[in-house]
Amino acid sequence: EKGTHPHYMLKEIDEQPLVMRKIIQKYQDNDGELAIDGTIIDAIKAADRIYIIAAGTSYHAGLIGKQLIESMAKIPVEVHISSEFGYNMPLLSEKPLFVFISQSGETADSRAVLVQVKEMGHPALTITNVPGSTLSREADFTLLLHAGPEIAVASTKAYTAQLAVLAIVAEVAAKSRGVEIGFDLVKELGIVANAMEVLCDLKEIIEHIAREFLTVTRNAFFIGRAVDYYVSLEAALKLKEISYIQAEGFAGGELKHGTIALIEEGTPVIALSTQEKVNLSIRGNVKEVAARGAYPCIISMKGLEQDEDSFVLPAVHEQLTPLISVIPLQLLAYYAALHRGCDVDKPRNLAKSVTVE
Ligand code: M6R
Repeated sequence: EKGTHPHYMLKEIDEQPLVMRKIIQKYQDNDGELAIDGTIIDAIKAADRIYIIAAGTSYHAGLIGKQLIESMAKIPVEVHISSEFGYNMPLLSEKPLFVFISQSGETADSRAVLVQVKEMGHPALTITNVPGSTLSREADFTLLLHAGPEIAVASTKAYTAQLAVLAIVAEVAAKSRGVEIGFDLVKELGIVANAMEVLCDLKEIIEHIAREFLTVTRNAFFIGRAVDYYVSLEAALKLKEISYIQAEGFAGGELKHGTIALIEEGTPVIALSTQEKVNLSIRGNVKEVAARGAYPCIISMKGLEQDEDSFVLPAVHEQLTPLISVIPLQLLAYYAALHRGCDVDKPRNLAKSVTVE
Protein backbone atom coordinates (compact mmCIF):
# COMPACT_ATOMS: atom_id res chain seq x y z
CA GLU A 1 0.00 0.00 0.00
CA LYS A 2 1.32 3.42 -0.79
CA GLY A 3 -0.35 4.94 2.28
CA THR A 4 0.16 8.69 2.53
CA HIS A 5 2.49 8.80 -0.48
CA PRO A 6 0.93 10.01 -3.74
CA HIS A 7 2.95 7.46 -5.75
CA TYR A 8 4.72 4.17 -5.16
CA MET A 9 7.88 5.65 -6.65
CA LEU A 10 8.06 8.37 -4.00
CA LYS A 11 7.28 5.84 -1.26
CA GLU A 12 10.04 3.57 -2.50
CA ILE A 13 12.54 6.44 -2.70
CA ASP A 14 11.68 7.28 0.91
CA GLU A 15 12.14 3.68 2.02
CA GLN A 16 15.82 3.63 1.04
CA PRO A 17 17.29 4.51 4.47
CA LEU A 18 15.18 1.77 6.04
CA VAL A 19 16.19 -0.77 3.41
CA MET A 20 19.84 0.12 3.98
CA ARG A 21 19.53 -0.57 7.72
CA LYS A 22 17.68 -3.83 7.02
CA ILE A 23 20.42 -5.01 4.64
CA ILE A 24 23.14 -4.22 7.21
CA GLN A 25 21.21 -6.21 9.80
CA LYS A 26 20.39 -9.15 7.49
CA TYR A 27 24.01 -9.54 6.38
CA GLN A 28 25.58 -9.34 9.84
CA ASP A 29 26.56 -12.44 11.81
CA ASN A 30 26.36 -12.79 15.60
CA ASP A 31 29.70 -11.03 16.00
CA GLY A 32 28.55 -8.03 13.97
CA GLU A 33 30.75 -9.07 11.02
CA LEU A 34 29.38 -8.94 7.48
CA ALA A 35 28.72 -12.48 6.29
CA ILE A 36 27.24 -14.43 3.39
CA ASP A 37 26.61 -18.14 2.97
CA GLY A 38 29.84 -20.18 3.06
CA THR A 39 29.00 -22.00 -0.19
CA ILE A 40 28.86 -18.63 -1.98
CA ILE A 41 32.20 -17.61 -0.50
CA ASP A 42 33.68 -20.89 -1.76
CA ALA A 43 32.28 -20.22 -5.25
CA ILE A 44 33.80 -16.73 -5.25
CA LYS A 45 37.13 -18.06 -4.00
CA ALA A 46 37.17 -20.71 -6.71
CA ALA A 47 36.52 -18.15 -9.47
CA ASP A 48 39.28 -16.49 -11.48
CA ARG A 49 36.84 -13.93 -12.96
CA ILE A 50 33.30 -12.75 -12.25
CA TYR A 51 30.85 -12.07 -15.08
CA ILE A 52 27.97 -9.81 -14.07
CA ILE A 53 24.89 -10.13 -16.29
CA ALA A 54 21.94 -7.71 -16.01
CA ALA A 55 19.58 -5.32 -17.80
CA GLY A 56 18.50 -1.70 -17.35
CA THR A 57 18.94 -0.30 -13.87
CA SER A 58 20.37 -3.60 -12.64
CA TYR A 59 23.06 -3.35 -15.35
CA HIS A 60 23.92 0.13 -14.05
CA ALA A 61 24.27 -1.35 -10.55
CA GLY A 62 26.53 -4.02 -12.06
CA LEU A 63 28.89 -1.39 -13.45
CA ILE A 64 29.38 -0.01 -9.95
CA GLY A 65 29.57 -3.55 -8.55
CA LYS A 66 32.58 -4.16 -10.81
CA GLN A 67 34.37 -1.17 -9.31
CA LEU A 68 33.57 -2.31 -5.78
CA ILE A 69 34.62 -5.93 -6.26
CA GLU A 70 37.77 -5.12 -8.21
CA SER A 71 38.98 -2.40 -5.86
CA MET A 72 38.06 -4.16 -2.62
CA ALA A 73 38.52 -7.89 -3.36
CA LYS A 74 40.98 -7.64 -6.30
CA ILE A 75 38.97 -10.10 -8.42
CA PRO A 76 38.61 -9.22 -12.13
CA VAL A 77 34.99 -8.51 -13.11
CA GLU A 78 33.26 -8.01 -16.47
CA VAL A 79 29.76 -6.57 -16.79
CA HIS A 80 27.49 -7.50 -19.69
CA ILE A 81 24.05 -6.45 -20.87
CA SER A 82 21.96 -9.64 -20.79
CA SER A 83 20.42 -9.24 -24.24
CA GLU A 84 23.84 -8.72 -25.88
CA PHE A 85 25.75 -11.48 -24.13
CA GLY A 86 24.68 -14.22 -26.57
CA TYR A 87 25.88 -12.28 -29.62
CA ASN A 88 29.14 -11.04 -28.17
CA MET A 89 30.04 -13.81 -25.79
CA PRO A 90 33.43 -12.85 -24.38
CA LEU A 91 36.26 -15.35 -24.27
CA LEU A 92 35.56 -16.86 -20.87
CA SER A 93 38.23 -17.40 -18.25
CA GLU A 94 38.97 -20.90 -17.00
CA LYS A 95 36.87 -20.64 -13.84
CA PRO A 96 34.14 -18.07 -14.34
CA LEU A 97 31.45 -17.25 -11.79
CA PHE A 98 28.30 -15.73 -13.25
CA VAL A 99 26.42 -13.18 -11.16
CA PHE A 100 22.89 -12.27 -12.29
CA ILE A 101 21.52 -9.03 -10.90
CA SER A 102 17.75 -8.72 -11.23
CA GLN A 103 15.23 -6.96 -9.02
CA SER A 104 12.36 -9.14 -10.23
CA GLY A 105 14.34 -12.29 -10.88
CA GLU A 106 12.13 -12.76 -13.96
CA THR A 107 13.91 -10.84 -16.74
CA ALA A 108 13.83 -13.08 -19.82
CA ASP A 109 17.03 -11.69 -21.33
CA SER A 110 18.96 -12.55 -18.16
CA ARG A 111 17.32 -15.95 -17.89
CA ALA A 112 18.42 -16.82 -21.43
CA VAL A 113 22.04 -16.23 -20.39
CA LEU A 114 21.57 -18.22 -17.20
CA VAL A 115 20.26 -21.21 -19.17
CA GLN A 116 23.19 -20.92 -21.57
CA VAL A 117 25.91 -20.76 -18.91
CA LYS A 118 24.34 -23.54 -16.84
CA GLU A 119 24.46 -25.73 -19.96
CA MET A 120 28.14 -24.90 -20.19
CA GLY A 121 28.51 -26.09 -16.59
CA HIS A 122 29.42 -22.75 -14.95
CA PRO A 123 28.30 -21.75 -11.44
CA ALA A 124 25.76 -18.94 -11.10
CA LEU A 125 24.68 -16.63 -8.30
CA THR A 126 21.51 -14.52 -8.51
CA ILE A 127 21.16 -11.26 -6.60
CA THR A 128 17.43 -10.53 -6.49
CA ASN A 129 14.66 -8.94 -4.50
CA VAL A 130 12.25 -11.82 -5.05
CA PRO A 131 12.83 -15.12 -3.23
CA GLY A 132 11.65 -18.06 -5.33
CA SER A 133 11.85 -16.08 -8.58
CA THR A 134 12.90 -17.89 -11.75
CA LEU A 135 16.49 -16.60 -11.72
CA SER A 136 16.80 -17.49 -8.06
CA ARG A 137 15.47 -21.03 -8.53
CA GLU A 138 17.61 -21.75 -11.56
CA ALA A 139 20.92 -20.41 -10.24
CA ASP A 140 23.11 -22.34 -7.79
CA PHE A 141 23.07 -19.57 -5.19
CA THR A 142 20.92 -16.56 -4.25
CA LEU A 143 21.54 -13.37 -2.31
CA LEU A 144 18.44 -11.36 -1.44
CA LEU A 145 18.11 -7.58 -1.58
CA HIS A 146 15.62 -7.36 1.32
CA ALA A 147 14.19 -4.18 -0.21
CA GLY A 148 10.52 -5.17 0.17
CA PRO A 149 8.20 -5.22 -2.86
CA GLU A 150 9.04 -2.64 -5.51
CA ILE A 151 5.82 -1.67 -7.32
CA ALA A 152 6.73 1.43 -9.37
CA VAL A 153 8.06 0.58 -12.82
CA ALA A 154 11.03 2.89 -12.22
CA SER A 155 13.45 1.00 -10.01
CA THR A 156 14.80 3.02 -7.08
CA LYS A 157 15.22 1.21 -3.77
CA ALA A 158 16.22 -2.02 -5.57
CA TYR A 159 19.14 -0.15 -7.21
CA THR A 160 20.59 1.14 -3.94
CA ALA A 161 19.94 -2.28 -2.34
CA GLN A 162 21.85 -3.92 -5.21
CA LEU A 163 24.78 -1.55 -4.61
CA ALA A 164 24.80 -2.33 -0.89
CA VAL A 165 24.68 -6.10 -1.44
CA LEU A 166 27.45 -5.85 -4.05
CA ALA A 167 29.58 -3.87 -1.58
CA ILE A 168 28.96 -6.57 1.02
CA VAL A 169 29.92 -9.30 -1.46
CA ALA A 170 33.11 -7.32 -2.23
CA GLU A 171 33.96 -6.97 1.47
CA VAL A 172 33.31 -10.60 2.32
CA ALA A 173 35.25 -11.74 -0.76
CA ALA A 174 38.17 -9.49 0.24
CA LYS A 175 38.13 -10.88 3.79
CA SER A 176 38.08 -14.48 2.55
CA ARG A 177 41.11 -13.75 0.36
CA GLY A 178 42.97 -11.99 3.16
CA VAL A 179 42.77 -8.61 1.42
CA GLU A 180 42.51 -5.56 3.69
CA ILE A 181 39.89 -3.07 2.42
CA GLY A 182 40.97 -0.31 4.78
CA PHE A 183 37.57 0.75 6.09
CA ASP A 184 34.68 -0.55 8.20
CA LEU A 185 31.86 -1.23 5.72
CA VAL A 186 29.19 -1.73 8.40
CA LYS A 187 29.96 1.67 9.84
CA GLU A 188 30.13 3.33 6.41
CA LEU A 189 26.81 1.80 5.31
CA GLY A 190 25.29 3.18 8.52
CA ILE A 191 26.57 6.63 7.52
CA VAL A 192 25.03 6.07 4.07
CA ALA A 193 21.64 5.26 5.66
CA ASN A 194 21.77 8.50 7.67
CA ALA A 195 22.77 10.50 4.59
CA MET A 196 19.86 8.95 2.67
CA GLU A 197 17.51 10.13 5.39
CA VAL A 198 18.88 13.68 5.15
CA LEU A 199 18.41 13.61 1.35
CA CYS A 200 14.83 12.36 1.57
CA ASP A 201 14.09 15.44 3.70
CA LEU A 202 15.40 17.79 1.02
CA LYS A 203 12.69 17.07 -1.55
CA GLU A 204 11.62 20.70 -1.87
CA ILE A 205 15.03 21.76 -3.16
CA ILE A 206 15.00 18.99 -5.77
CA GLU A 207 11.44 19.78 -6.77
CA HIS A 208 12.58 23.35 -7.33
CA ILE A 209 15.55 22.23 -9.45
CA ALA A 210 13.24 19.98 -11.51
CA ARG A 211 10.89 22.90 -12.10
CA GLU A 212 13.72 25.19 -13.10
CA PHE A 213 15.64 22.81 -15.36
CA LEU A 214 13.22 20.19 -16.64
CA THR A 215 9.67 21.57 -16.99
CA VAL A 216 9.79 22.58 -20.64
CA THR A 217 12.96 21.08 -22.09
CA ARG A 218 12.97 18.41 -24.83
CA ASN A 219 16.26 16.94 -23.73
CA ALA A 220 18.73 16.80 -20.85
CA PHE A 221 22.26 15.54 -20.33
CA PHE A 222 23.86 14.03 -17.27
CA ILE A 223 27.64 14.03 -17.06
CA GLY A 224 30.09 12.48 -14.65
CA ARG A 225 33.49 10.84 -14.47
CA ALA A 226 34.54 7.59 -12.76
CA VAL A 227 31.59 6.17 -10.76
CA ASP A 228 29.69 9.42 -11.29
CA TYR A 229 29.53 8.46 -14.98
CA TYR A 230 27.73 5.20 -14.10
CA VAL A 231 25.32 7.08 -11.86
CA SER A 232 24.66 9.55 -14.68
CA LEU A 233 23.62 6.62 -16.91
CA GLU A 234 21.10 5.60 -14.25
CA ALA A 235 19.88 9.19 -13.81
CA ALA A 236 19.25 9.47 -17.56
CA LEU A 237 17.37 6.17 -17.69
CA LYS A 238 15.19 7.23 -14.76
CA LEU A 239 14.37 10.56 -16.38
CA LYS A 240 13.56 9.16 -19.81
CA GLU A 241 11.41 6.30 -18.63
CA ILE A 242 9.02 8.37 -16.53
CA SER A 243 9.16 11.92 -17.93
CA TYR A 244 9.77 11.06 -21.63
CA ILE A 245 12.47 13.72 -21.79
CA GLN A 246 15.24 12.57 -24.13
CA ALA A 247 18.08 12.13 -21.67
CA GLU A 248 21.58 10.73 -21.97
CA GLY A 249 24.37 10.06 -19.51
CA PHE A 250 27.89 10.78 -20.71
CA ALA A 251 31.42 10.44 -19.46
CA GLY A 252 32.63 14.02 -19.05
CA GLY A 253 35.73 13.36 -21.14
CA GLU A 254 33.66 12.05 -24.07
CA LEU A 255 31.75 15.30 -24.56
CA LYS A 256 34.39 16.82 -26.80
CA HIS A 257 34.42 13.68 -28.95
CA GLY A 258 31.00 14.40 -30.39
CA THR A 259 28.20 15.00 -27.94
CA ILE A 260 29.05 18.63 -27.31
CA ALA A 261 27.63 19.32 -30.80
CA LEU A 262 24.18 18.75 -29.31
CA ILE A 263 24.47 21.55 -26.76
CA GLU A 264 22.21 24.49 -27.57
CA GLU A 265 21.11 27.61 -25.76
CA GLY A 266 19.37 26.44 -22.57
CA THR A 267 20.14 22.69 -22.80
CA PRO A 268 20.10 21.38 -19.22
CA VAL A 269 23.35 19.65 -18.26
CA ILE A 270 23.35 18.03 -14.85
CA ALA A 271 26.88 17.33 -13.64
CA LEU A 272 27.77 15.06 -10.77
CA SER A 273 30.93 15.51 -8.73
CA THR A 274 31.48 13.15 -5.80
CA GLN A 275 35.10 12.12 -6.37
CA GLU A 276 38.05 14.29 -5.48
CA LYS A 277 40.14 12.87 -8.32
CA VAL A 278 37.70 14.14 -10.97
CA ASN A 279 36.28 17.25 -9.30
CA LEU A 280 38.34 19.71 -11.34
CA SER A 281 37.98 17.95 -14.67
CA ILE A 282 34.20 17.62 -14.45
CA ARG A 283 33.98 21.30 -13.56
CA GLY A 284 36.09 21.95 -16.66
CA ASN A 285 33.45 20.10 -18.71
CA VAL A 286 30.73 22.22 -17.13
CA LYS A 287 32.57 25.36 -18.24
CA GLU A 288 32.87 23.99 -21.78
CA VAL A 289 29.13 23.34 -22.10
CA ALA A 290 28.17 26.57 -20.36
CA ALA A 291 30.31 28.50 -22.87
CA ARG A 292 28.13 26.96 -25.59
CA GLY A 293 24.88 28.03 -23.97
CA ALA A 294 24.06 25.03 -21.74
CA TYR A 295 22.19 25.54 -18.51
CA PRO A 296 24.34 23.67 -15.95
CA CYS A 297 23.27 22.21 -12.63
CA ILE A 298 26.09 20.88 -10.46
CA ILE A 299 25.46 18.29 -7.76
CA SER A 300 28.57 17.85 -5.64
CA MET A 301 29.67 16.15 -2.46
CA LYS A 302 30.37 17.99 0.76
CA GLY A 303 34.04 18.89 0.84
CA LEU A 304 34.22 19.29 -2.95
CA GLU A 305 31.50 21.95 -3.34
CA GLN A 306 31.90 25.38 -4.92
CA ASP A 307 29.70 28.46 -4.79
CA GLU A 308 27.91 27.84 -8.09
CA ASP A 309 26.67 24.33 -7.11
CA SER A 310 22.91 23.72 -7.06
CA PHE A 311 22.95 20.88 -4.53
CA VAL A 312 25.48 19.50 -2.05
CA LEU A 313 25.32 15.86 -0.92
CA PRO A 314 26.25 14.87 2.64
CA ALA A 315 29.70 13.25 2.73
CA VAL A 316 29.95 9.45 2.69
CA HIS A 317 32.86 7.07 2.00
CA GLU A 318 34.30 7.68 -1.48
CA GLN A 319 33.53 4.13 -2.63
CA LEU A 320 29.87 4.40 -1.58
CA THR A 321 28.88 7.75 -3.13
CA PRO A 322 26.59 6.17 -5.80
CA LEU A 323 24.30 4.95 -3.01
CA ILE A 324 23.42 8.52 -2.15
CA SER A 325 24.15 10.58 -5.27
CA VAL A 326 21.40 8.71 -7.10
CA ILE A 327 18.71 9.87 -4.64
CA PRO A 328 18.41 13.51 -5.79
CA LEU A 329 18.52 12.19 -9.36
CA GLN A 330 15.65 9.76 -8.69
CA LEU A 331 13.73 12.66 -7.15
CA LEU A 332 14.58 14.89 -10.09
CA ALA A 333 13.05 12.33 -12.47
CA TYR A 334 10.03 11.97 -10.19
CA TYR A 335 9.29 15.71 -10.00
CA ALA A 336 10.02 16.28 -13.71
CA ALA A 337 7.45 13.58 -14.55
CA LEU A 338 4.98 14.99 -12.06
CA HIS A 339 5.32 18.55 -13.39
CA ARG A 340 4.84 17.30 -16.93
CA GLY A 341 1.68 15.41 -16.01
CA CYS A 342 3.09 11.93 -16.67
CA ASP A 343 1.91 8.71 -15.06
CA VAL A 344 4.83 8.29 -12.66
CA ASP A 345 4.20 4.73 -11.49
CA LYS A 346 3.09 3.29 -14.82
CA PRO A 347 4.97 4.96 -17.67
CA ARG A 348 3.81 4.26 -21.22
CA ASN A 349 5.14 1.24 -23.10
CA LEU A 350 6.80 -0.30 -20.02
CA ALA A 351 6.12 -3.25 -17.73
CA LYS A 352 7.61 -3.89 -14.29
CA SER A 353 9.16 -7.19 -15.34
CA VAL A 354 10.22 -7.79 -18.89
CA THR A 355 9.47 -11.49 -19.36
CA VAL A 356 9.91 -11.58 -23.14
CA GLU A 357 13.25 -11.62 -24.96
O1 M6R B 1 13.93 -7.00 -12.69
P1 M6R B 1 15.24 -6.58 -13.32
O2 M6R B 1 16.15 -5.90 -12.39
O3 M6R B 1 15.92 -7.73 -14.04
O4 M6R B 1 14.82 -5.54 -14.45
C1 M6R B 1 15.75 -5.02 -15.34
C2 M6R B 1 15.21 -3.81 -16.05
O5 M6R B 1 14.07 -4.15 -16.82
C3 M6R B 1 14.81 -2.69 -15.07
O6 M6R B 1 15.88 -2.34 -14.25
C4 M6R B 1 14.34 -1.44 -15.82
O7 M6R B 1 15.42 -0.87 -16.51
C5 M6R B 1 13.69 -0.46 -14.84
N1 M6R B 1 12.37 -0.08 -15.27
C6 M6R B 1 14.48 0.80 -14.65
O8 M6R B 1 13.89 1.68 -13.78
